[in-house]
Amino acid sequence: MYEGESVVLRPVLAMDEPLLQEWDSDTELNALMGTDVLVDLQDHYLTDGTRNSMRLIIQTKGGTVIGNVDLIRIHWRPREAEMVIRIGRREYWGKGYGTDAVNVLLRVAFSLLGLKSVYLRVYRSNARAVRCYEKCGFRKEGMITRRLPHGEVQIVLMRALAPTAEAVAAG
Ligand SMILES: CC(C)(COP(=O)(O)OP(=O)(O)OC[C@H]1O[C@@H](n2cnc3c(N)ncnc32)[C@H](O)[C@@H]1OP(=O)(O)O)[C@@H](O)C(=O)NCCC(=O)NCCS
Repeated sequence: MYEGESVVLRPVLAMDEPLLQEWDSDTELNALMGTDVLVDLQDHYLTDGTRNSMRLIIQTKGGTVIGNVDLIRIHWRPREAEMVIRIGRREYWGKGYGTDAVNVLLRVAFSLLGLKSVYLRVYRSNARAVRCYEKCGFRKEGMITRRLPHGEVQIVLMRALAPTAEAVAAG
């Protein structure tokens, strides 16, 4: 269990599956996550398994399961990974839970796993997500435009770097 200010991150348990499946088939969530264009987590876990991935459940301190956050494509040589997050319960959006969860996840990634950087891909139009990531120290690295049958989407690549030894020493 990894603790933040308002959330706890913990491994997935069998009892979480129905809720995760409900979110997997939530079209509004999938549209925000870009499961057609950015990353299909179900597909990813089917092909890659959990060898280079880690899923943690996000729950409130009160014990309500509100989402999950994943590190996928963990590459040990360059020590980087991609992060994907979803708060499945809409009533918990915009209340700081995502920021807290991402900060805890970054702590795990940098201090426990020893990664040097964590990147993510997000639709430029997903302003709440972009803002949340910026607050957690992610910086924009680039943008690509993907042409789809129903128009264009702009995808922003963002990256957070592990704190330097000096920064850690300075607290
Ligand atoms: C993206 C997500 C993880 C963010 O978590 P969250 O708990 O909702 O976000 P937070 O409350 O921590 O931070 C959101 C920030 O964006 C701001 N914000 C909220 N709605 C906004 C909007 N429509 N436009 C611009 N900023 C917005 C908030 O004010 C807050 O910033 P502030 O603290 O400076 O005021 C969560 O909303 C989510 O899972 N959404 C659905 C799935 C999704 O989009 N996943 C990301 C895929 S890349």
